[in-house]
This record gives sequence, C-alpha cells and structure tokens, in this order.
Amino acid sequence: MKDFWKKLSEKWPIAFLAPMDGYTDSAYRQVNKKVNPDVMCVSEFYSADGLVHSKFLADSVLPHQDIEKPLIIQIFWKDPDKFAKAAKIIEKYNVAGIDVNMWCPAKKVVSSWHGSGLIINRDTAFEIVETLNKATHLPISVKTRLGWNGAETLIDFVKGLESAWAGLITVHGRTAKQAYTGFADFTQIYELKKHVWIPVICNGDVENFDDGMAKIYSPDKQVKLDGFMIGRGSFWNPWCFVPGWYEPSLREILDMMSFHANALFLSKWEKKATLDIRKHLVQYLKWFPWVSAYRKRLVTIESMEILEGILLEIRTEFASSLDLKPSEITV
Ligand SMILES: Cc1cc2nc3c(=O)[nH]c(=O)nc-3n(C[C@H](O)[C@H](O)[C@H](O)COP(=O)(O)O)c2cc1C
Repeated sequence: MKDFWKKLSEKWPIAFLAPMDGYTDSAYRQVNKKVNPDVMCVSEFYSADGLVHSKFLADSVLPHQDIEKPLIIQIFWKDPDKFAKAAKIIEKYNVAGIDVNMWCPAKKVVSSWHGSGLIINRDTAFEIVETLNKATHLPISVKTRLGWNGAETLIDFVKGLESAWAGLITVHGRTAKQAYTGFADFTQIYELKKHVWIPVICNGDVENFDDGMAKIYSPDKQVKLDGFMIGRGSFWNPWCFVPGWYEPSLREILDMMSFHANALFLSKWEKKATLDIRKHLVQYLKWFPWVSAYRKRLVTIESMEILEGILLEIRTEFASSLDLKPSEITV
C-alpha cells in the first residue's frame, strides 16, 4: 500500500485533478473521471479537526462513487495527533490515500501554521507525515509550493518529507508569498526531481493534458517528472483531460451540464446542490455568444427540473448547431 505512488508512476505519467475548495466535490470529480477514467482526483481540503469532531462532516464529504476511485482525500491542520485521528476516520471510507495540504497561502490559514505555514514550520511538517504513516496503512502524499519566499529550501524540505515517508510530492511553481501572481515556474521542480526518489508532480498554469505532458519534461529534456496536476484549467472544461486539445460540441457540453447537476443533486442536500451548481452552469456555456440571454436564469435556478427545462430550451433553440464546437460558431 505504501508503495502505491511509486508503482503507479512507473506505469505512466499521472494526470491529477487538483484539490479545489468549493469545486472538487464528488460531482465535480465524477465529471472529470467520466471524460478520462485515468485521471487521479484529489478532494477539496477538509480540516482534520473538523473530520475528527463532526461525524456529519465526515459522512457528507467522504462517501464517494466507484467512478471516482482511486480517490485521494486532502486534509489540513497543524497538530500531528489530529492528523492521525482524522486518518483513522478517513480509512473507513475506502479511499486510496491521504494528501496533506502544505500549499494554502491564505492569511488566516498561514497565521495559525496550517497550509503553507508548514513550509516554515518544517519540523512539524515532517512530524505530521511521520505520524500519519504510523497511524494508517494509506499512502501519504503532500502538496506544497516552491517555498515561502523563494525556492532555496525546496529540495531540503522535500527530502525531509521523503525521510518521513511521504510517497509523492506535488509542487505548485509559485512561492507562498506569490500566491497566484506571476507565472508558475517549474525550473526548481525539475531540479528537485534529480534529488529525490519519490514521484514529483508539477502544478500551476497547466492548460490541458497535452500541455501537461509537454511540461513534465525539462526544457533540455534531461529530466522527466512523474505527472502534472490541473486546477483552474478544468473549470467548465473537464475535456482538458482528453489528449489532443479536445474541444467538445454544444451537445456534449449540455449533456455534461445535466450529468454534473444530477451528480450534485444526488450527493448533496437539494438547497446546497442548487447553490453549488449555479456557478458551474454559466461557466460551461461561457464561449457561446448567446449565454447572456440565459445567464440570469442559470445563476438563480432552484431545482433540477427547472434546469432540465432550460437545457431543453437551449437544445431546441440551437438544434441546428448542437454538433458545432464553440470555435466553429461565428455569430
Ligand atoms: C477555487 C480554488 C480552490 C482551491 N482549493 C485548494 C485546496 O483545497 N487545496 C489545495 O491544495 N489547493 C487548492 N487550490 C489550489 C489548486 O489546487 C492549484 O494548486 C492552483 O490552482 C494552481 O493550479 P492551476 O494553475 O492549474 O489552477 C485551489 C485553487 C482554486 C482556484
């Protein structure tokens, strides 16, 4: 079990759907797996403390569908014991692994030494991974950034995590201070790969599958990373995981909207599902010039029935262009 990541990365480069709070819930993961079953999904982050103290939270976010497997659950906190207790709970839900968030740069997270605060508080970071490994048979991975305010510490930091038996590391090519500014820079990630034996995954501004497959190679082709992770590139566009810059037709997009909404309504309370699906709907159609005519209704839908009605209207109004792709639509 602990060599899960090593064995998987030896087969082929791993394409990850990034953990994204408010996005990568069960329904979103199903959508991306439907497009490419080989995509490895990481859940949005959950507080280890929350999972330990709230059975309601655990029962709401940890159950998942077979199509999402093998699923990785991401957790954050700062106290190693809390991680160990959370791992015992997560184990019961048949997941494939636990990922530790050492990525999040949000002020309130960092100031209490969670997320990327652990890049500075490195002894605690190592202790968390070690404690988790003792507490559970599940493989442990870590998602982090280049460093706090530069990449000088990256190699030592990851070597420490490796010694604590982290099985895979994902590195976002920005520092915590950078948050989302500038461009992701993978130079130090290629360098890191030369110094550690665990699989190394790159993340940051990867647009789609082909872009990811190109970026796992250093510019001089001397280094090959073990995979890539896509976050924002998947907004409205699970087809980013199809090899070959795939562009879906209007029909495929409408079918996926319906699938996404159904999966959400099946996995969450109706009120929560209604609120959650609204942000996705307009994004799916954003390339179509006529979306403005439907925007108001899509961002205020109240039920699956209403949504199906709107989707039927769109299918009827654009019956002659259902098989066109956004780039083929001229007016
Ligand atoms: C809305 C949103 C929520 C995010 N939530 C998380 C999270 O819960 N855990 C995490 O490790 N990263 C989180 N991230 C960061 C992404 O996983 C990823 O590292 C980042 O967006 C860079 O990748 P990208 O350029 O492909 O989007 C989040 C990003 C976004 C846009």
